[in-house]
Amino acid sequence: MQTRNLINGEWRDAPSGATFDVTNPATDEVIAKVPDGGAGQAVAAIAAARAALPSWRALPAAERAGPLAKLASLMLAKQDELAKLLTREQGKPLAEARGEISYAASFISWAAEEAKRVYGETVPASRTDQRILVLRQAVGVVAAITPWNFPAAMITRKLGPALAAGCTIIVKPAEQTPLSAFAIGELALEAGIPAGVLNIITGDSAAIGQAIFADPTVRKVSFTGSTAVGQKLMVAAANNVVRLSLELGGHAPFLVFDDADVDAAVIGAIKSKFRNAGQTCVCPNRFFVQDGIYDEFVAKLAAALEPLRIGSGLDEGVSVGPLIDDDAVAKVRDHVDDALSHGATLRLGGKIFSPESGLTERFCQPTILEGVNASMKLNHEETFGPVAPIRRFTHEAEAIELANDSPYGLASYFYTRDNSRVWRVAEALEYGIVGANDGAPSTAQAPFGGVKMSGIGREGGRYVMHEYLNIKYVSIGID
Ligand code: SIN
Repeated sequence: MQTRNLINGEWRDAPSGATFDVTNPATDEVIAKVPDGGAGQAVAAIAAARAALPSWRALPAAERAGPLAKLASLMLAKQDELAKLLTREQGKPLAEARGEISYAASFISWAAEEAKRVYGETVPASRTDQRILVLRQAVGVVAAITPWNFPAAMITRKLGPALAAGCTIIVKPAEQTPLSAFAIGELALEAGIPAGVLNIITGDSAAIGQAIFADPTVRKVSFTGSTAVGQKLMVAAANNVVRLSLELGGHAPFLVFDDADVDAAVIGAIKSKFRNAGQTCVCPNRFFVQDGIYDEFVAKLAAALEPLRIGSGLDEGVSVGPLIDDDAVAKVRDHVDDALSHGATLRLGGKIFSPESGLTERFCQPTILEGVNASMKLNHEETFGPVAPIRRFTHEAEAIELANDSPYGLASYFYTRDNSRVWRVAEALEYGIVGANDGAPSTAQAPFGGVKMSGIGREGGRYVMHEYLNIKYVSIGID
């Protein structure tokens, strides 16, 4: 297990020797000590990325694609090992962690293919002595700031297309989950990605962030995390007019219409809401169920959730792991208590506890709240826990209005068997991602991203390459 920062192809401690602990959220066991790097290491990483840029971006696309494809296959070859590491530092069940590793590898292999399809354009000119050419070129040095909820996939989603486009990168993983980042770094070196092209630094977020935004070498920052931090990054980016991709908070609605296949809607609800113990930006936070099937949907959802095993993600058969830390626990508890004190009723769960001795008190039962209304915190803020607040609705227009009544616009979901309604509702939802009869829309070949306060830019699909490319217009004068 690698536990040091990767700068210019070398594994380095913080110059001060300072470290911080990485712990297993299920047990509080310290699993590693990693460098508490600061501005100095960020500056060194930026210098390494700058030095590596000219030769990396000059390579033919196919030559950049080669080591990327190799990295993806190495990740898949080590899927079990990487998954165990991921579960130990993040907590999610092993089956989900294995899924995350293949999801993470898919971003790299997709980007390796897309590298070869960065097409330019010629545009008809209005003068006979002019030819218009549009080129697309790597933006340069990129910094990626990634979250703890998907310690592998949120890195590769940025790293893959950045490197494929010809950029070099500095990755700053979340303090809670740097080990998966280091493991990807080791495999990247093994795959033949040259020194300095990928740099990984852990440590003080504020100091590293400041160094990144202070250096005009960094031309692009890609961030996944909270809207509050994203807003601060937008201010910081003004300094050097740095391009940003921001994947921020969500507050997904999940609509179930009377004509839905209720069993499919229950499966979709479990996939979307309870993945990673509800700690995803695309998790539904507000369920709206039409009167006619309300009772059936809630009863079936409760029956499906009840038997789910809660425990350490490393134990076979566990479906719900711990919340990441005590702040996460406090937020979930606060949202549930607030809802109950404002008139919600508990249909299922509601307890945060330690499921067995040796485990922390960070495990939250899958929870269903009914009688939810607009006054409750969980109706406005992301809970980031396995809590499903459910409300009734009567008419389609009412459901759409409720769903769109949010400053966020990342993911949304609805279930119906009516084909015309599929079109109507999909078009009316003010969200970057719509799962129509699909609780798991995320995939490497589709554009992932939000509108409104959920962010700027898209990750995945052919669209992601735009995030790491500048457009250059060349006007050629001819005789
Ligand atoms: C996220 O929670 O930000 C990512 C979820 C996904 O990729 O599906």
